[in-house]
Amino acid sequence: MSYPYQIKTYEEYKDAYRKSVDQPEEFWAEIAESFQWKEKWNKVLESDFRTANTKWFLNAKLNITENCIDRHLYNLGDQPAIIWEPNNPKEKSRTITYNDLYVKVNEFAQVLINNGVKKGDRVCIYMGMVPELPVAMLACARIGAIHSVIFGGFSAQSIADRLQDTQAELIVTCDGAFRGNKEIGLKTLIDNALVACKFVKTVIVLTRTHIPVSMIKGRDLWWEDEIAKVQENEHTFVAPVAVDAEDPLFILYTSGSTGKPKGVVHATAGYMIFAAYTFVNIFQYKQGDVHFCTADIGWITGHTYIVYGVLCAGGTSLLYEGIPNFPDASRLWDIIDKHNVTILYTAPTTIRSLMAFGLEPLKGKKLNSLKVLGTVGEPINEEAWHWYNENIGKGKCPIVDTWWQTETGGAMITNLAGITSSKPGYATLPMPGVQLVLVDEQGKEIEGNDVSGNLCITQPWPSIIRTTYNDHERCRTNYFAIYDNMYFTGDGCYRDENGFYRITGRVDDVLNVSGHRIGTAEVENAINMHSGVIESAVVGYPHELKGQGIYAYVIMEHIHDNKHETKLDILQTVTRIIGPIAKPDKVQFVTGLPKTRSGKIMRRILRKIAEGELNSLGDTSTLLDPAIVEEIKNGRL
Ligand code: WT7
Repeated sequence: MSYPYQIKTYEEYKDAYRKSVDQPEEFWAEIAESFQWKEKWNKVLESDFRTANTKWFLNAKLNITENCIDRHLYNLGDQPAIIWEPNNPKEKSRTITYNDLYVKVNEFAQVLINNGVKKGDRVCIYMGMVPELPVAMLACARIGAIHSVIFGGFSAQSIADRLQDTQAELIVTCDGAFRGNKEIGLKTLIDNALVACKFVKTVIVLTRTHIPVSMIKGRDLWWEDEIAKVQENEHTFVAPVAVDAEDPLFILYTSGSTGKPKGVVHATAGYMIFAAYTFVNIFQYKQGDVHFCTADIGWITGHTYIVYGVLCAGGTSLLYEGIPNFPDASRLWDIIDKHNVTILYTAPTTIRSLMAFGLEPLKGKKLNSLKVLGTVGEPINEEAWHWYNENIGKGKCPIVDTWWQTETGGAMITNLAGITSSKPGYATLPMPGVQLVLVDEQGKEIEGNDVSGNLCITQPWPSIIRTTYNDHERCRTNYFAIYDNMYFTGDGCYRDENGFYRITGRVDDVLNVSGHRIGTAEVENAINMHSGVIESAVVGYPHELKGQGIYAYVIMEHIHDNKHETKLDILQTVTRIIGPIAKPDKVQFVTGLPKTRSGKIMRRILRKIAEGELNSLGDTSTLLDPAIVEEIKNGRL
């Protein structure tokens, strides 16, 4: 497959960028011609940031699975679409060609139809990293159902919250998932979630770990049995349903600075085009390349750069079930050598944690198939960048640092491998179609170079968030109402003397722990549910491995003698309400919190204390009780 829209030189990048600014509609329409449509659009773009409404390719009709699968069958039918590497290296890996994927997606689409799923219905997917997970997503897309994948690390309560928001009546899950030396009972978590979700009619369970599960009559079905029923007919073909360009493809929940996670909605056509366009250009994908993205499909990175972007480009995606340090810290390097991986895309946290094992795990590893490296999810520190460059890329592989968000659908600021320059710690330059500004607190543009500000985007791009599910007003106020007529990212950013962008981190109350986004309010709500807790405040602090750690200040009714035990109990509650990823690293018991006279917690002060900057707390005289600051400082962990 060739990509007419693949940028091959720096000049071409500059031309593409200029055209995307001067003639955005012509620019994207031309790229859209490389995709398969059932009906073409009659207008390219309609957008109004003030009401948070953007539409691309109006009235066009398509099915994304035709673009991801069917159109590749003739030329690439026998090429691997997915190479699956199991958690346990002793187990056999699996190769799923485009022909195989076609059969599997058709069969499972038929299973969904047999169980009453129709266009527009929501289907929740809670599975480990097995090939059947993308199969389930694509099967939804084939019949126009909207999938919502829930990361396998979320608790039953978090699953229930998401199910209630989507009102999904069908769930696809596994009996269990293997992750390192752990076996996670996914189906049991679903059972616990469903106690509060009586509207769920069907649960389809894939066998993976053979852990005992309870199967409720009339509700729970085995994946294998359902597939066997379909296979009684030879060649199952499910006609790909024509959906509107703006019909939602999926909902993916992500944390904000307030309230419960919001369901970010992406529209089919715009998401598809930006996913494929960015994939092909950033990684400079060529036929025969093997792309290994280590993210979990439960996050946007996996949606776009394990599933949709790669498959739309007819690429080969390596799907790894396990974790980077299992059975030991050489696992990723073994996988790269075993499957001749050409592109490795991972998170700075992963690099730092593997770096901590030294060079021993790299002994005897060739890594000579690698051509391109990438990072995503958090700022990368220079030390990790150089380690990655020297020891993994052997100084020969460009490193792309891709900045983006669940809401942007695809990477927005990044260098293009081997085409535009890299700079350690910098995401560098915007993708074509992405127009950035830095603004001050009042929303006034900060012009020129060597300046910092809040990062905003002034023009719509194809995969911009369309709405937050069930609550469009929340989408508007969160992203489009902070600054007039701009999308606000929530990130702070520096633009250097050459116009390169460096993301400095969130400026709102959202934490980035190991590349996972967690709202401080969410963690506080979970802590406050713990018996005996009066109030809590959560802030982030620099953490050597995780990027950010979670620091919780907690007021208890009574401080028990055994603080350690109380802390563990609180962590247990957080695990129960959100999931283990939201567990605070530090819990400091305090008798009060620094508050203004109007009762607002001064998080700035708490952040400084957590960071250990005890002498730069600023003015504390306006506090309701300035003495509390001394107590908190003295008790700092
Ligand atoms: C937040 C979005 C889509 C990527 C996975 C995370 C931070 C993301 C970078 C980067 C510095 C980054 C930002 C952003 N972030 N990529 N290359 N350099 N920071 O998606 O969970 O929606 O989180 O991750 O703070 O706002 P997400």
